[in-house]
Amino acid sequence: MWTEDSLRGLINERLGDHPFVVVSYREPYVHTFEGRKIQCISPPSGLATALDPLMRASQGLWIACGTGEADGMVVDEESKIGVPPQNPEYTLKRIWLSHDEERGFYWGFSNEALWPLCHIAFASPVFNEGDWNIYKAVNRLFADAVMAEVGSQKALVFIQDYHFALLPRLLKQLNPELIVAQFWHIPWPNHEVFRICPWHEEIVDGLLGNDLLGFHIQYHCFNFLETVDRSLESRIDRENSVVVRGGERTLVKPFPISVDTELLSKNAESPEVEEEIERVVDEYDLEGKCIGIGVDRIDYTKGIPERLKALDRLWEKYPEEKEKVVFVQLGAPSRMRSGGYWGINDRISRMVEDINWKYGTRTWKPIIYLRGNNSPTMLAAFRHIAHFCIVSSLHDGMNLVAKEYISSKTDEDGVLILSEFTGAAKELRDALEINPYDTGDFTQKIVTAIHMDPQERRERMIRLREQVKENNIYTWGSNIVSEILSLKGD
Ligand code: G6P
Repeated sequence: MWTEDSLRGLINERLGDHPFVVVSYREPYVHTFEGRKIQCISPPSGLATALDPLMRASQGLWIACGTGEADGMVVDEESKIGVPPQNPEYTLKRIWLSHDEERGFYWGFSNEALWPLCHIAFASPVFNEGDWNIYKAVNRLFADAVMAEVGSQKALVFIQDYHFALLPRLLKQLNPELIVAQFWHIPWPNHEVFRICPWHEEIVDGLLGNDLLGFHIQYHCFNFLETVDRSLESRIDRENSVVVRGGERTLVKPFPISVDTELLSKNAESPEVEEEIERVVDEYDLEGKCIGIGVDRIDYTKGIPERLKALDRLWEKYPEEKEKVVFVQLGAPSRMRSGGYWGINDRISRMVEDINWKYGTRTWKPIIYLRGNNSPTMLAAFRHIAHFCIVSSLHDGMNLVAKEYISSKTDEDGVLILSEFTGAAKELRDALEINPYDTGDFTQKIVTAIHMDPQERRERMIRLREQVKENNIYTWGSNIVSEILSLKGD
């Protein structure tokens, strides 16, 4: 089993003097104001959650956008800060974008074009030429930021996600000695879908600047290879999953991402979480109830309305479950300035109100909706006490909430209801699988979860826990870092 120490050992032994640089849009720590005091929070981002342990082990440099209102006040003259703030283990360098850059690059092309394009959740992508030009300019700005750090050294640059599709090619042009790898944290659709993007060829060519390109699952790798095959002049060696273009090679491989299972398990039993459990049980009147949870960034890809429909059907069809089952939906608001996000927020609030009005009684509220940046301790408390957890994404690269729930179930007692359209469903075979669009079956699976025999519940949870323990975030980090290191060739 891989641990933080063994990953650190692997990196120390094989990285040598080569600098290790990670690039992403989202930063792992955000400084904001709470009244007049500065506080540091961890953003609700699967990418940030997953990369932080890898960075702690590698002690490298992470370049990301400064997005917190107090971010500029805590950095040094090079815009750098040691993180985690309480006990610095690596360096975060913040890049400052102007409003226009943020609008075109992040809100615009990344989240209104690429995000819906890659997630098949029936939201139309918006392709705006102005946004595309800014997306290109910001990719160039990051290329300059990396070069300012590494110069002509043979550094390893590990790029994250869809915000930087053009960065690998730009870096290779500036310093051909670099080893460049990228992990694409979201799905890759098939060619028929991807080719509607007017600039799909430039995007694919940009990504082929990588020496290594990782996706969560094999299916996304196949979709990518098919997109390359049908959009650009290249040779594809399918047996070895390598694309050769202009004499350069890009290895395309799956690396299913994960969480820090050990740490989450340990936290689940900490005194703070125990105290928080007492508090939430009391505050929300949960004693003796069968508790279900959903934990999401509020996003139209997460299938939250579909989940609420299935719960509505539950209390309609099975009135005997009234007063017994409570569903707690924890939702972190996200990307509120981007098209579609106000709509999904309103829709969820209205649906929750409607269900509570239809079925609620003086002593029982069917759905408790906690919208906001809920603290990690509160999330851990709810994960620990939940009898079942629903992940109903319409499409998701991996989905780490599913793995976080399993990691928190140290009592080995709980049921995971998981959408078949997540990457996680390929690994977590002991979850109850659902198609979130099939409300009838979805409701039945909730009933199955509520009434599952305790022995079966335990056996499934034990197997799920073994799976995430074995494929934890350090396994992911070690696999991908070993692959990057072997490309170094010395
Ligand atoms: C997904 C993406 C990440 C992103 C996260 C949160 O997990 O793959 O790149 O950081 O969503 O979204 P945000 O736009 O708030 O960073």
